[in-house]
Amino acid sequence: MYNGDLVKLRAYKEDDVERAVEFINDEEVKKLLDSNIPFPMTKWQEEEWVKSRKAETNFTYDFAIEDLDTGKYIGGCSINECNLKNRNCTIGIMIGDKNYWGKGYGSDALKVLIKFIFEEVNMDKIKLNVFSFNKRAISCYKKVGFKEEGLLKREIYRNGRYYDEVPMALFKEDWIK
Ligand SMILES: CC(C)(COP(=O)(O)OP(=O)(O)OC[C@H]1O[C@@H](n2cnc3c(N)ncnc32)[C@H](O)[C@@H]1OP(=O)(O)O)[C@@H](O)C(=O)NCCC(=O)NCCS
Repeated sequence: MYNGDLVKLRAYKEDDVERAVEFINDEEVKKLLDSNIPFPMTKWQEEEWVKSRKAETNFTYDFAIEDLDTGKYIGGCSINECNLKNRNCTIGIMIGDKNYWGKGYGSDALKVLIKFIFEEVNMDKIKLNVFSFNKRAISCYKKVGFKEEGLLKREIYRNGRYYDEVPMALFKEDWIK
């Protein structure tokens, strides 16, 4: 529905679910995304999750990310927790197909999502949290304009030790510039 240079953000289709579960259950992907115990998710849990995400009532907006060239479903990005009074929201992104990592697909998808958020949802600030060891994601977020807002010390326990978490944000006025 919304096109960037490399990707299209579109609605989820029923037959994305199987691939989505594969993406989420990849150990590396899961450990970059989820602060909880990295335990595999079942297909029916994913289906329930999709059903629970009603854009109109919860103000959560989920897009599947498709490679513009091939039409292949490669991941997803979402708006979570819209605060309508303070006009801020949190976002999340996953390029689940690792063949697409580090080739600009994530930043392209984010650019499209950011435009949608500022120009259609009318938010003033976009927020996200990223684990300090997720250097690719931090670099991707900085590339599209996010700035670090501080450091949450020892926030995540992963692979037998504690890591910090980095809150990052992008304001509409900085994006317009
Ligand atoms: C994070 C993610 C969305 C980024 O998407 P992507 O398509 O890989 O990112 P891009 O290619 O647009 O940008 C990544 C940048 O990081 C750089 N990079 C890659 N590996 C890196 C590393 N180990 N350290 C520092 N920078 C790195 C790339 O060179 C690129 O920068 P450049 O374009 O200036 O060369 C994607 O990798 C992903 O979904 N990962 C798994 C799930 C995840 O981590 N989600 C985010 C949770 S907060």
